[in-house]
Amino acid sequence: MSDLETAKAFDLSVFDKANAHDPFPIYRMLRENDPVHRNADGSYFLTRYDDVVLSFKHPGMSSDKKVNFKPKFGDGPLYTHHTTSLVFNDPPIHTRVRKLLAAAFTPRKLAELEPVVERVIDGLLDKLDAMGDFEIIEDYALALPTQVISDMLGVPDDQRHLLRGYSNLILGALDPVVSADDLAAGEGAVLEFETMLEELIAKRRENPDGSQMGEVLSALIFGEVDGERLTPVELVQNCIFLLNAGHETTANLIGNTIDMLLGAPDQLHRLQNDGDLIRTTIEESLRYLSPLQIGNRKAMEDVMFGDVMIPAGSFIHCCIAAANRDPLQFDDPEHVDISRNPNRQIAFGIGKHICMGNTLGRIEGRVAIGKFIERFPELRRNGEPQQSPRVRFRGFDKLPVSVV
Ligand code: HEM
Repeated sequence: MSDLETAKAFDLSVFDKANAHDPFPIYRMLRENDPVHRNADGSYFLTRYDDVVLSFKHPGMSSDKKVNFKPKFGDGPLYTHHTTSLVFNDPPIHTRVRKLLAAAFTPRKLAELEPVVERVIDGLLDKLDAMGDFEIIEDYALALPTQVISDMLGVPDDQRHLLRGYSNLILGALDPVVSADDLAAGEGAVLEFETMLEELIAKRRENPDGSQMGEVLSALIFGEVDGERLTPVELVQNCIFLLNAGHETTANLIGNTIDMLLGAPDQLHRLQNDGDLIRTTIEESLRYLSPLQIGNRKAMEDVMFGDVMIPAGSFIHCCIAAANRDPLQFDDPEHVDISRNPNRQIAFGIGKHICMGNTLGRIEGRVAIGKFIERFPELRRNGEPQQSPRVRFRGFDKLPVSVV
Protein backbone atom coordinates (compact mmCIF):
# COMPACT_ATOMS: atom_id res chain seq x y z
CA MET A 1 0.00 0.00 0.00
CA SER A 2 1.25 3.51 -0.73
CA ASP A 3 1.42 6.04 2.13
CA LEU A 4 -1.61 7.78 0.69
CA GLU A 5 -3.62 4.54 0.65
CA THR A 6 -2.48 3.71 4.19
CA ALA A 7 -3.47 7.20 5.34
CA LYS A 8 -6.89 6.95 3.67
CA ALA A 9 -7.45 3.53 5.32
CA PHE A 10 -6.71 4.88 8.83
CA ASP A 11 -9.60 4.43 11.25
CA LEU A 12 -9.47 5.98 14.70
CA SER A 13 -12.03 3.52 16.12
CA VAL A 14 -9.54 0.62 15.76
CA PHE A 15 -6.43 2.66 16.59
CA ASP A 16 -6.30 2.31 20.40
CA LYS A 17 -4.13 -0.14 22.36
CA ALA A 18 -1.96 -1.52 19.50
CA ASN A 19 -0.62 1.96 18.74
CA ALA A 20 -0.75 3.67 22.12
CA HIS A 21 2.97 3.12 22.78
CA ASP A 22 4.04 5.03 19.66
CA PRO A 23 1.31 6.68 17.59
CA PHE A 24 3.64 9.37 16.22
CA PRO A 25 4.72 7.69 12.93
CA ILE A 26 1.03 7.30 12.05
CA TYR A 27 0.26 10.92 12.96
CA ARG A 28 3.14 12.00 10.75
CA MET A 29 1.97 9.86 7.86
CA LEU A 30 -1.53 11.33 8.15
CA ARG A 31 -0.23 14.90 8.39
CA GLU A 32 1.84 14.39 5.24
CA ASN A 33 -0.73 12.49 3.18
CA ASP A 34 -4.27 13.08 4.44
CA PRO A 35 -4.21 15.89 7.03
CA VAL A 36 -8.00 16.37 7.08
CA HIS A 37 -8.82 12.69 7.28
CA ARG A 38 -12.38 11.31 7.16
CA ASN A 39 -12.93 8.25 9.39
CA ALA A 40 -15.28 5.40 8.45
CA ASP A 41 -17.95 6.76 10.83
CA GLY A 42 -17.96 10.18 9.07
CA SER A 43 -15.95 12.00 11.75
CA TYR A 44 -12.73 13.87 10.86
CA PHE A 45 -9.19 13.59 12.23
CA LEU A 46 -6.98 16.72 12.02
CA THR A 47 -3.18 16.52 12.28
CA ARG A 48 -1.79 19.90 11.07
CA TYR A 49 -1.00 22.58 13.65
CA ASP A 50 -2.91 25.33 11.83
CA ASP A 51 -6.00 23.14 11.41
CA VAL A 52 -6.06 22.06 15.06
CA VAL A 53 -5.70 25.70 16.15
CA LEU A 54 -8.51 26.69 13.77
CA SER A 55 -10.78 23.96 15.16
CA PHE A 56 -10.24 25.26 18.71
CA LYS A 57 -10.65 28.94 17.80
CA HIS A 58 -13.43 28.91 15.19
CA PRO A 59 -16.72 30.35 16.55
CA GLY A 60 -18.69 27.76 14.56
CA MET A 61 -17.21 24.87 16.57
CA SER A 62 -19.13 23.45 19.54
CA SER A 63 -17.99 21.61 22.69
CA ASP A 64 -21.54 20.96 23.90
CA LYS A 65 -22.11 17.21 24.42
CA LYS A 66 -25.73 17.14 25.67
CA VAL A 67 -27.03 15.43 22.53
CA ASN A 68 -24.18 12.84 22.54
CA PHE A 69 -24.46 12.04 26.24
CA LYS A 70 -28.23 11.63 26.47
CA PRO A 71 -28.51 8.13 24.92
CA LYS A 72 -25.52 6.91 26.94
CA PHE A 73 -26.23 8.43 30.35
CA GLY A 74 -30.02 9.04 30.29
CA ASP A 75 -30.95 11.54 33.01
CA GLY A 76 -28.62 10.05 35.64
CA PRO A 77 -25.82 11.59 37.72
CA LEU A 78 -23.19 11.07 34.98
CA TYR A 79 -25.34 13.10 32.59
CA THR A 80 -25.74 15.90 35.12
CA HIS A 81 -22.03 15.87 35.86
CA HIS A 82 -20.60 15.80 32.34
CA THR A 83 -23.12 18.25 30.86
CA THR A 84 -22.54 20.74 33.70
CA SER A 85 -18.75 20.53 33.38
CA LEU A 86 -17.32 23.68 31.92
CA VAL A 87 -15.41 21.89 29.19
CA PHE A 88 -18.55 20.41 27.60
CA ASN A 89 -20.44 23.71 27.30
CA ASP A 90 -20.60 26.55 24.78
CA PRO A 91 -21.20 30.27 25.38
CA PRO A 92 -23.11 31.82 27.02
CA ILE A 93 -23.08 29.14 29.77
CA HIS A 94 -19.37 28.46 29.26
CA THR A 95 -18.45 32.17 29.42
CA ARG A 96 -20.34 32.75 32.68
CA VAL A 97 -19.12 29.62 34.47
CA ARG A 98 -15.51 30.14 33.32
CA LYS A 99 -15.50 33.70 34.73
CA LEU A 100 -16.80 32.41 38.06
CA LEU A 101 -14.33 29.50 38.22
CA ALA A 102 -11.47 31.90 37.51
CA ALA A 103 -11.67 32.81 41.22
CA ALA A 104 -9.80 29.55 41.88
CA PHE A 105 -6.89 30.49 39.62
CA THR A 106 -6.13 34.15 40.39
CA PRO A 107 -2.43 35.09 40.66
CA ARG A 108 -2.95 35.33 44.42
CA LYS A 109 -4.44 31.83 44.71
CA LEU A 110 -1.66 30.43 42.51
CA ALA A 111 0.98 32.16 44.62
CA GLU A 112 -0.60 30.49 47.70
CA LEU A 113 -0.59 27.11 45.94
CA GLU A 114 3.10 27.13 44.98
CA PRO A 115 4.37 26.55 48.55
CA VAL A 116 1.65 23.89 48.95
CA VAL A 117 3.07 22.12 45.87
CA GLU A 118 6.63 22.43 47.23
CA ARG A 119 5.62 21.04 50.63
CA VAL A 120 3.77 18.09 49.11
CA ILE A 121 6.73 17.29 46.82
CA ASP A 122 9.30 17.50 49.62
CA GLY A 123 7.21 15.05 51.63
CA LEU A 124 6.86 12.64 48.69
CA LEU A 125 10.59 12.82 47.90
CA ASP A 126 11.47 11.97 51.48
CA LYS A 127 9.30 8.86 51.19
CA LEU A 128 10.89 7.89 47.86
CA ASP A 129 14.36 8.42 49.30
CA ALA A 130 13.60 5.85 51.97
CA MET A 131 12.33 3.38 49.33
CA GLY A 132 15.39 3.33 46.98
CA ASP A 133 13.71 1.64 44.00
CA PHE A 134 10.22 2.83 43.24
CA GLU A 135 7.53 3.19 40.67
CA ILE A 136 7.15 6.82 39.67
CA ILE A 137 3.50 6.91 38.62
CA GLU A 138 1.88 5.46 41.73
CA ASP A 139 4.43 6.66 44.27
CA TYR A 140 5.00 10.19 42.94
CA ALA A 141 3.20 11.45 39.82
CA LEU A 142 -0.35 10.56 40.88
CA ALA A 143 0.14 11.38 44.53
CA LEU A 144 0.97 15.04 43.82
CA PRO A 145 -2.16 16.24 41.95
CA THR A 146 -4.42 14.33 44.37
CA GLN A 147 -2.89 16.21 47.30
CA VAL A 148 -2.97 19.58 45.51
CA ILE A 149 -6.61 19.30 44.43
CA SER A 150 -7.55 18.06 47.89
CA ASP A 151 -5.94 21.18 49.34
CA MET A 152 -7.79 23.36 46.81
CA LEU A 153 -11.14 21.84 47.76
CA GLY A 154 -10.39 21.45 51.46
CA VAL A 155 -10.80 17.63 51.43
CA PRO A 156 -9.79 16.23 54.84
CA ASP A 157 -6.80 13.85 55.03
CA ASP A 158 -8.86 10.78 55.80
CA GLN A 159 -10.99 11.18 52.63
CA ARG A 160 -8.26 11.97 50.10
CA HIS A 161 -7.61 8.34 49.17
CA LEU A 162 -11.13 8.16 47.69
CA LEU A 163 -10.57 10.81 45.03
CA ARG A 164 -8.52 8.85 42.54
CA GLY A 165 -11.10 6.06 42.38
CA TYR A 166 -13.87 8.62 41.81
CA SER A 167 -11.91 10.26 39.03
CA ASN A 168 -11.21 6.95 37.24
CA LEU A 169 -14.83 5.84 37.41
CA ILE A 170 -16.28 9.18 36.27
CA LEU A 171 -13.81 9.64 33.40
CA GLY A 172 -13.95 5.93 32.48
CA ALA A 173 -17.63 6.44 31.67
CA LEU A 174 -16.54 8.66 28.76
CA ASP A 175 -14.90 5.72 26.95
CA PRO A 176 -16.66 4.82 23.69
CA VAL A 177 -17.98 1.51 25.06
CA VAL A 178 -18.92 1.21 28.74
CA SER A 179 -20.46 -1.82 30.48
CA ALA A 180 -23.62 -1.50 32.60
CA ASP A 181 -21.53 -2.25 35.71
CA ASP A 182 -19.04 0.49 34.91
CA LEU A 183 -21.86 2.95 34.25
CA ALA A 184 -23.42 2.10 37.61
CA ALA A 185 -20.02 2.48 39.33
CA GLY A 186 -19.52 5.88 37.62
CA GLU A 187 -22.93 7.03 38.81
CA GLY A 188 -22.14 5.88 42.33
CA ALA A 189 -18.86 7.81 42.23
CA VAL A 190 -20.60 11.05 41.17
CA LEU A 191 -23.17 10.67 43.97
CA GLU A 192 -20.57 9.92 46.67
CA PHE A 193 -18.32 12.76 45.57
CA GLU A 194 -21.34 15.11 45.49
CA THR A 195 -22.18 14.19 49.08
CA MET A 196 -18.60 14.78 50.20
CA LEU A 197 -18.47 18.18 48.50
CA GLU A 198 -21.88 19.27 49.73
CA GLU A 199 -20.70 18.66 53.31
CA LEU A 200 -17.46 20.59 52.72
CA ILE A 201 -19.37 23.45 51.10
CA ALA A 202 -21.90 23.58 53.95
CA LYS A 203 -19.05 23.82 56.50
CA ARG A 204 -17.32 26.52 54.50
CA ARG A 205 -20.57 28.52 54.23
CA GLU A 206 -20.83 28.46 58.03
CA ASN A 207 -17.20 29.46 58.42
CA PRO A 208 -16.14 31.42 55.31
CA ASP A 209 -12.83 32.57 56.80
CA GLY A 210 -11.68 29.14 57.98
CA SER A 211 -9.81 28.22 54.76
CA GLN A 212 -6.35 26.66 54.89
CA MET A 213 -3.60 27.99 52.64
CA GLY A 214 -4.35 27.20 48.99
CA GLU A 215 -8.05 26.42 49.47
CA VAL A 216 -10.34 27.94 46.83
CA LEU A 217 -13.75 26.77 48.02
CA SER A 218 -14.79 30.12 49.59
CA ALA A 219 -13.85 31.95 46.39
CA LEU A 220 -16.00 29.56 44.36
CA ILE A 221 -18.98 29.65 46.77
CA PHE A 222 -19.09 33.40 47.33
CA GLY A 223 -17.44 34.74 44.14
CA GLU A 224 -19.70 36.96 42.03
CA VAL A 225 -19.45 38.19 38.47
CA ASP A 226 -22.06 40.73 37.30
CA GLY A 227 -24.09 39.97 40.43
CA GLU A 228 -24.25 36.22 39.73
CA ARG A 229 -22.78 33.21 41.55
CA LEU A 230 -22.29 29.59 40.54
CA THR A 231 -25.55 27.68 41.13
CA PRO A 232 -25.29 24.86 43.72
CA VAL A 233 -25.22 22.25 40.91
CA GLU A 234 -22.59 24.17 38.88
CA LEU A 235 -20.47 24.57 42.00
CA VAL A 236 -20.45 20.89 42.97
CA GLN A 237 -20.12 19.48 39.44
CA ASN A 238 -17.31 21.84 38.48
CA CYS A 239 -15.41 21.04 41.67
CA ILE A 240 -15.65 17.38 40.62
CA PHE A 241 -14.47 18.41 37.16
CA LEU A 242 -11.43 20.20 38.62
CA LEU A 243 -10.30 16.94 40.17
CA ASN A 244 -10.79 15.03 36.91
CA ALA A 245 -9.20 17.71 34.71
CA GLY A 246 -6.11 18.17 36.84
CA HIS A 247 -5.43 14.63 37.98
CA GLU A 248 -4.37 12.23 35.22
CA THR A 249 -3.10 15.08 32.98
CA THR A 250 -0.65 16.34 35.61
CA ALA A 251 0.46 12.84 36.58
CA ASN A 252 1.07 12.11 32.90
CA LEU A 253 3.07 15.30 32.48
CA ILE A 254 5.38 14.21 35.31
CA GLY A 255 5.75 10.58 34.14
CA ASN A 256 6.18 11.58 30.49
CA THR A 257 8.89 14.12 31.35
CA ILE A 258 10.90 11.53 33.30
CA ASP A 259 10.51 9.09 30.40
CA MET A 260 11.51 11.76 27.86
CA LEU A 261 14.67 12.56 29.84
CA LEU A 262 15.57 8.88 30.30
CA GLY A 263 15.18 8.44 26.54
CA ALA A 264 17.46 11.43 25.81
CA PRO A 265 20.38 11.14 28.30
CA ASP A 266 22.20 14.13 26.75
CA GLN A 267 19.20 16.30 27.60
CA LEU A 268 18.99 14.86 31.12
CA HIS A 269 22.64 15.85 31.66
CA ARG A 270 21.97 19.34 30.34
CA LEU A 271 19.16 19.76 32.86
CA GLN A 272 21.26 18.32 35.68
CA ASN A 273 23.97 20.87 34.87
CA ASP A 274 21.66 23.83 34.42
CA GLY A 275 18.52 23.88 36.58
CA ASP A 276 17.36 27.07 34.84
CA LEU A 277 16.37 24.89 31.89
CA ILE A 278 13.45 23.46 33.88
CA ARG A 279 10.96 25.96 32.41
CA THR A 280 11.71 25.08 28.76
CA THR A 281 12.07 21.37 29.67
CA ILE A 282 8.45 21.27 30.81
CA GLU A 283 7.31 23.10 27.66
CA GLU A 284 9.25 20.59 25.54
CA SER A 285 7.72 17.65 27.39
CA LEU A 286 4.25 19.13 26.86
CA ARG A 287 5.02 19.44 23.14
CA TYR A 288 6.79 16.14 22.60
CA LEU A 289 4.55 13.86 24.71
CA SER A 290 1.33 15.87 25.13
CA PRO A 291 -0.65 14.40 28.06
CA LEU A 292 -4.00 15.04 26.33
CA GLN A 293 -3.33 13.91 22.77
CA ILE A 294 -6.72 14.37 21.16
CA GLY A 295 -9.49 16.94 21.75
CA ASN A 296 -12.93 17.12 20.14
CA ARG A 297 -15.28 19.59 18.54
CA LYS A 298 -18.50 19.45 16.51
CA ALA A 299 -18.85 21.71 13.45
CA MET A 300 -22.05 23.76 13.67
CA GLU A 301 -21.47 25.23 10.20
CA ASP A 302 -19.43 24.29 7.11
CA VAL A 303 -15.76 25.16 7.75
CA MET A 304 -12.81 24.99 5.32
CA PHE A 305 -9.62 23.31 6.56
CA GLY A 306 -7.07 23.94 3.83
CA ASP A 307 -8.89 22.82 0.68
CA VAL A 308 -11.24 20.41 2.47
CA MET A 309 -14.66 21.52 3.64
CA ILE A 310 -15.87 19.87 6.85
CA PRO A 311 -19.66 19.98 6.70
CA ALA A 312 -21.92 21.24 9.50
CA GLY A 313 -22.84 18.45 11.93
CA SER A 314 -19.47 16.64 11.64
CA PHE A 315 -17.64 15.40 14.72
CA ILE A 316 -13.94 16.36 14.72
CA HIS A 317 -10.94 14.80 16.50
CA CYS A 318 -8.31 17.53 16.95
CA CYS A 319 -4.95 15.78 17.31
CA ILE A 320 -2.95 18.04 19.63
CA ALA A 321 -0.09 15.48 19.67
CA ALA A 322 0.29 15.59 15.87
CA ALA A 323 -0.02 19.42 15.78
CA ASN A 324 2.79 19.64 18.34
CA ARG A 325 5.13 17.82 15.93
CA ASP A 326 4.22 19.75 12.78
CA PRO A 327 7.49 20.75 11.04
CA LEU A 328 5.85 23.92 9.70
CA GLN A 329 5.66 25.10 13.31
CA PHE A 330 8.62 23.38 15.03
CA ASP A 331 12.17 22.88 13.74
CA ASP A 332 13.26 19.26 13.86
CA PRO A 333 10.03 18.27 15.70
CA GLU A 334 10.90 14.61 16.32
CA HIS A 335 13.98 15.67 18.29
CA VAL A 336 13.91 16.52 22.02
CA ASP A 337 15.46 19.93 22.77
CA ILE A 338 14.94 21.04 26.36
CA SER A 339 15.95 24.61 25.50
CA ARG A 340 13.58 24.89 22.51
CA ASN A 341 12.61 28.52 22.05
CA PRO A 342 10.19 29.57 20.68
CA ASN A 343 7.90 26.68 21.56
CA ARG A 344 4.28 27.45 20.77
CA GLN A 345 3.03 24.03 21.85
CA ILE A 346 -0.72 23.68 22.33
CA ALA A 347 -0.85 20.89 24.92
CA PHE A 348 -3.28 23.02 26.99
CA GLY A 349 -5.50 23.69 23.96
CA ILE A 350 -6.04 27.22 22.71
CA GLY A 351 -8.96 29.63 22.40
CA LYS A 352 -11.87 30.01 24.79
CA HIS A 353 -11.50 26.55 26.36
CA ILE A 354 -7.75 26.85 26.95
CA CYS A 355 -6.88 24.92 30.12
CA MET A 356 -7.73 26.94 33.24
CA GLY A 357 -5.17 24.95 35.20
CA ASN A 358 -2.29 25.56 32.80
CA THR A 359 -0.30 27.73 35.21
CA LEU A 360 -0.90 25.33 38.08
CA GLY A 361 -0.01 22.32 35.89
CA ARG A 362 3.21 24.04 34.82
CA ILE A 363 4.10 24.85 38.46
CA GLU A 364 3.45 21.23 39.48
CA GLY A 365 5.52 19.96 36.54
CA ARG A 366 8.46 22.29 37.17
CA VAL A 367 8.66 21.73 40.91
CA ALA A 368 8.08 17.96 40.63
CA ILE A 369 10.73 17.42 37.94
CA GLY A 370 13.20 20.06 39.16
CA LYS A 371 13.32 18.72 42.72
CA PHE A 372 13.30 15.09 41.58
CA ILE A 373 16.34 15.55 39.30
CA GLU A 374 18.17 17.39 42.06
CA ARG A 375 17.44 14.73 44.67
CA PHE A 376 18.17 11.69 42.47
CA PRO A 377 21.17 12.34 40.17
CA GLU A 378 21.68 8.60 39.53
CA LEU A 379 18.30 8.10 37.92
CA ARG A 380 17.98 4.97 35.71
CA ARG A 381 15.23 2.70 34.37
CA ASN A 382 14.49 -0.38 36.43
CA GLY A 383 12.26 -2.59 34.28
CA GLU A 384 9.88 -2.16 31.40
CA PRO A 385 7.59 0.86 31.53
CA GLN A 386 3.92 0.08 31.05
CA GLN A 387 2.23 2.51 28.69
CA SER A 388 -1.41 3.33 29.38
CA PRO A 389 -3.50 1.71 26.60
CA ARG A 390 -5.61 4.79 25.80
CA VAL A 391 -4.59 6.82 22.78
CA ARG A 392 -6.46 9.93 23.90
CA PHE A 393 -4.36 10.36 27.06
CA ARG A 394 -0.62 9.78 26.85
CA GLY A 395 0.95 8.44 29.99
CA PHE A 396 2.21 5.41 31.86
CA ASP A 397 0.49 2.99 34.18
CA LYS A 398 3.92 2.01 35.52
CA LEU A 399 7.37 3.58 35.15
CA PRO A 400 9.86 1.72 37.38
CA VAL A 401 13.16 3.48 38.11
CA SER A 402 16.22 3.01 40.25
CA VAL A 403 18.03 5.94 41.85
CA VAL A 404 21.01 4.21 43.48
C1 HEM B 1 -0.66 19.58 33.41
C2 HEM B 1 -1.36 19.04 32.59
C3 HEM B 1 -2.66 19.48 31.95
C4 HEM B 1 -2.94 19.38 30.62
C5 HEM B 1 -2.03 18.82 29.54
C6 HEM B 1 -4.28 19.91 30.42
C7 HEM B 1 -4.90 19.98 29.19
C8 HEM B 1 -6.10 20.61 28.96
C9 HEM B 1 -6.69 20.81 27.65
C10 HEM B 1 -6.07 20.37 26.31
C11 HEM B 1 -7.88 21.48 27.82
C12 HEM B 1 -8.80 22.00 26.73
C13 HEM B 1 -9.92 21.07 26.37
C14 HEM B 1 -10.72 21.56 25.17
O1 HEM B 1 -10.43 22.61 24.59
O2 HEM B 1 -11.67 20.87 24.81
C15 HEM B 1 -8.06 21.65 29.25
C16 HEM B 1 -9.14 22.26 29.83
C17 HEM B 1 -9.28 22.45 31.18
N1 HEM B 1 -8.37 22.14 32.17
FE1 HEM B 1 -6.54 21.30 31.90
N2 HEM B 1 -4.78 20.31 31.64
C18 HEM B 1 -3.83 20.09 32.60
C19 HEM B 1 -3.94 20.37 33.95
C20 HEM B 1 -5.02 20.98 34.56
C21 HEM B 1 -5.13 21.30 35.96
C22 HEM B 1 -4.03 21.07 37.00
C23 HEM B 1 -6.38 21.83 36.16
C24 HEM B 1 -7.04 22.33 37.42
C25 HEM B 1 -6.82 21.89 38.62
C26 HEM B 1 -7.04 21.89 34.86
C27 HEM B 1 -8.29 22.41 34.63
C28 HEM B 1 -8.88 22.55 33.39
C29 HEM B 1 -10.18 23.15 33.18
C30 HEM B 1 -11.10 23.72 34.25
C31 HEM B 1 -10.44 23.08 31.80
C32 HEM B 1 -11.70 23.53 31.07
C33 HEM B 1 -11.54 24.90 30.48
C34 HEM B 1 -12.71 25.33 29.63
O3 HEM B 1 -13.44 24.48 29.11
O4 HEM B 1 -12.88 26.54 29.49
N3 HEM B 1 -6.19 21.35 33.93
N4 HEM B 1 -6.96 21.13 29.92
